[in-house]
Amino acid sequence: MDGKVVIITGGAGGIGGATARLLTQRGAKVAIADIAFEAARTLAGELPGALAIELDLERQDSIEAMIADTVTHFGRLDVLHNNAALLGPDIARNDNDVESMDLALWDRTYAVNVRGTMIGCRAALPHLRETRGNIVNTVSNLALQGHIIQAAYSSSKAAIIQMTRAIAASHGIHGVRCNAVAPGMTMTPALREAFPPPLREAVEGETLRDQLGEPEDIAEAAAFLASDAARNITGQVLVCDGGCASHVPGIAPFRAFFAGEHA
Ligand SMILES: NC(=O)c1ccc[n+]([C@@H]2O[C@H](COP(=O)([O-])OP(=O)(O)OC[C@H]3O[C@@H](n4cnc5c(N)ncnc54)[C@H](O)[C@@H]3O)[C@@H](O)[C@H]2O)c1
Repeated sequence: MDGKVVIITGGAGGIGGATARLLTQRGAKVAIADIAFEAARTLAGELPGALAIELDLERQDSIEAMIADTVTHFGRLDVLHNNAALLGPDIARNDNDVESMDLALWDRTYAVNVRGTMIGCRAALPHLRETRGNIVNTVSNLALQGHIIQAAYSSSKAAIIQMTRAIAASHGIHGVRCNAVAPGMTMTPALREAFPPPLREAVEGETLRDQLGEPEDIAEAAAFLASDAARNITGQVLVCDGGCASHVPGIAPFRAFFAGEHA
């Protein structure tokens, strides 16, 4: 990533922050764009060459300014990493199934996650064509499997997956790749707040490792997709969930039943 310029939206958050640190270690110059501007500024202060940008993904002008300001500051753009999402305990508590869905919450989720991502891609593409750069979108395991929670969030992430493929199809010929990373449950401070231990332990029981993923695990996957090592990969979703979604559900009780035999 030496000399590459990367924008990370939600860069002040758990996964975005870990990715900003990793990419900086690998020689990139990062723009940390977040609605939590103070946190973005604090992190940028710790990372050589980093720039903090105040971003509100609900506002078109704010998104377009993020792209323009990054290019003005660094002189180029190599990677747009769309990592921010509308999250938080209150959001998660109220986003359940469609029958009980509050329309304002649905619209806001789509505004931040889908419309915000689209506007960012649209504004970044002319610059990415110049550098033969790429886009990495953070989606979720919930975009790929059904659940009783987060119908708005999960379907918005599924929309981003299809947007990923559409951009890859349209812009590959111009040298621009577009991929997605799909984290499973990942141990960020925000996640710990939103999901109490029994729910985290239930998911842990379904992983094929002995622990849930850490933000650094997702950062590694995103950094790979953003790098030239992934030059032959586009339009793909890289699932980074410790194998949770790779098997028939209910592996924890099966492990207990066959303890010692297949374990
Ligand atoms: N942690 C997990 O278990 C998990 C699982 C699957 C997917 N993800 C995805 O990973 C990404 C990062 O999430 P995280 O776990 O680090 O959570 P996080 O809450 O720590 O990070 C999200 C960041 O997005 C920012 N943000 C929210 N609304 C914004 C807006 N309108 N404009 C600009 N920035 C905004 C927040 O301020 C925050 O810094 C998200 O896309 C999330 O959906 C996380």
